[in-house]
Amino acid sequence: MILIVGGAGYIGSHVNKELNKRGYETVVFDNLSYGHEDFVKWGVFERGDLGNIEEIREVFSKYSIEAVMHFAAFTYVGESVEDPQKYYLNNLRNTLNLLQVMLEFEVKKFVFSSTCATYGNPIEIPITEDHPQNPINPYGKGKFMVEKVLEDYSRAYDLRYASLRYFNAAGADPEGEVGELHDPETHLIPLILDAAAGKRDDIKIFGTDYDTHDGTCVRDYIHVTDLADAHIRALEYLKNGGASEFFNLGNGNGFSVREVIDVSREVTGKPIKAVEDERRPGDPPVLVGSSKKAQEILGWKPEYANIRKIVETAWKWHQKIE
Ligand code: UFG
Repeated sequence: MILIVGGAGYIGSHVNKELNKRGYETVVFDNLSYGHEDFVKWGVFERGDLGNIEEIREVFSKYSIEAVMHFAAFTYVGESVEDPQKYYLNNLRNTLNLLQVMLEFEVKKFVFSSTCATYGNPIEIPITEDHPQNPINPYGKGKFMVEKVLEDYSRAYDLRYASLRYFNAAGADPEGEVGELHDPETHLIPLILDAAAGKRDDIKIFGTDYDTHDGTCVRDYIHVTDLADAHIRALEYLKNGGASEFFNLGNGNGFSVREVIDVSREVTGKPIKAVEDERRPGDPPVLVGSSKKAQEILGWKPEYANIRKIVETAWKWHQKIE
């Protein structure tokens, strides 16, 4: 079975669906601190906490685990600056707990949710995997530290991993079974859709004086179902004996905040009021990745690379959760 840690969350739940669709058996382990039990629509669910090593051992004793995918992490960059301990304990220490139990049970295939935040402020666009990594906040640093741990564990213990550095995960399951539901919500697309649905008055544009074509930040939005596909390809790569690797997962196209708002107006048919605001601290002007390596080694190709399709699936889901 495949163990999906954090499988009740946004990305983990989409990966769980995709694994089951392709005939894998899954166990979801999640403490539901941010995840949603009703997102676990496939496989079996074991509620537990990575902070409690005995609870991890119980799952490994109960099921025959072949590989682990790890999504359970806190992801609020601003909060990580204000309360770094919260981030290092969960995203770093608890990952060490998970790896410890994996080694005890000789489970040696690991797919890790890393992030483009490990690169910090990019010096070259598009960002490739060998771009220098200088993370600028505890969220990015914690993920970077896990990557370093993985390199050492891989050399010493024959653990093989695929560390997947996501750019901006977005969109929802095209069939509308799972989607994005954060509390609090800070991400651009769901907030725009809240404004479209009348749940908020407007969308604030954080910074209009960046050195980009329209002055607003540019991001590489990657559809969550494409991310899910990449995870399964990464798993199969490891199953076929592939060596430990890092992969960027982005669609290679950047869209500005204004462009995302414009597309959302078209998709929803709503006016969506945008208000120009101050820059948000810590936002790099442009984050766009090269996913050439994932395309070449994993044979991955994003299917929803177009921002319109991404917003359409997000809107379909958003209307369901109202
Ligand atoms: N933005 C606005 N208004 C908003 C919200 C966001 O203008 O109300 C802008 C941001 O300033 C940024 C862009 O929209 O320029 C995207 O912002 P998100 O908050 O949606 O996502 P981030 O780019 O901040 O994502 C980053 C990293 C990810 C990391 C994530 C953690 O790129 O790797 O933070 O949540 F995982």
